[in-house]
Amino acid sequence: EAAEKNGYPHFMLKEIYEQPKAVCDTTTIHVDKDGMVCFDNLNWTKADLENIDNILITACGTAYHAGLVAKHYIERFVKIPVEVDIASEYRYRQPLTSERTLCIVVSQSGETLDTLEALKEAKRLGARSIAVTNSIGSSIAREADYTIYTLAGPEIAVASTKAYTTQLVALLLLSLYMGQIKGTIRPELIKDITSALLTLPDKITEVLKEKDHMEKLADSLKDAKDIFYLGRSIDYAIAMEGALKLKEISYIHAEAYAAGELKHGTLALITKETPVIAVATQSHVASKMYSNIQEVRARGAEVIGIGYDDDPELEKYATDTVRIPRVDEFIAPILSVIPMQLLAYFTGIKRENDVDKPRNLAKSVTVE
Ligand code: G6P
Repeated sequence: EAAEKNGYPHFMLKEIYEQPKAVCDTTTIHVDKDGMVCFDNLNWTKADLENIDNILITACGTAYHAGLVAKHYIERFVKIPVEVDIASEYRYRQPLTSERTLCIVVSQSGETLDTLEALKEAKRLGARSIAVTNSIGSSIAREADYTIYTLAGPEIAVASTKAYTTQLVALLLLSLYMGQIKGTIRPELIKDITSALLTLPDKITEVLKEKDHMEKLADSLKDAKDIFYLGRSIDYAIAMEGALKLKEISYIHAEAYAAGELKHGTLALITKETPVIAVATQSHVASKMYSNIQEVRARGAEVIGIGYDDDPELEKYATDTVRIPRVDEFIAPILSVIPMQLLAYFTGIKRENDVDKPRNLAKSVTVE
């Protein structure tokens, strides 16, 4: 096992550090020499896409959180409404899925029973289907009409890290591809985003340099009872993943809130005892986020702000700031989640938890 960890103390840390390569591998096979997106044997025509009225994304856990980000990508680039549902909810409701639905399932293992059953149900109702998975030949890969593989390599730690970031990459590429075929995104924008994706591995390497900083910040979190994560737009979806990582590894209660919802209840819970992690990478809601940070600071909360290294505003409001390089705003989430992974890891370590095998959890849940 020590050999497999390749010098890292835990699989989780090793896998966090494998993200530049995982993201690079997942991107390069789908970007052609002109910077456009390609998927082998996915021969969709414009008419095929015009025959899709709605898209359903269904998954569990971290993969569900990737789906929440993908909704932003697809609605923006493909102009088709997207609903994202937890697989165990989807399979037991009476969904309005039809033959004009495209169902996208996301699953690292490709074996999660609820996700597999949700996929079968969507197909039974007539939907076309795509799987995004990390496991070649898995049950979900076999069941779907078409499979996109994340090339993250084996993920051993129960808490998903590199599978998640590669899911975001694969889903971003898929949404660009659909927009490209449907003509709902300008070719220049496709090229801008694919070229940003190709340089993303270097940016991830830069963010990984925040390691010592995150280890220090973990000291300020390790004794908290509750920690809140705030974001708006895509940052809210990322905040949900940040909170899940912390719960899984540190066993501290953590919740993510859409920052605009604070005042409708959660603000009552904010005191100097509740650290807040605030993600602010989306310019159209940045000023709103700064107001929300001030609201929680006014109730005594310490705020760790995650934002761009050239953003002078964030440090005016947050207690401490974690910086990511300036990138395209659709790509920022793939960077901003990395400090949150490190924060969860170090908080778990400081609480002397088994970070690779957190209590009560399994890597892949093949039962109900
Ligand atoms: C388990 C794992 C999670 C994972 C979820 C979905 O609960 O502990 O890390 O996100 O299953 O797994 P999948 O393999 O379908 O992505």
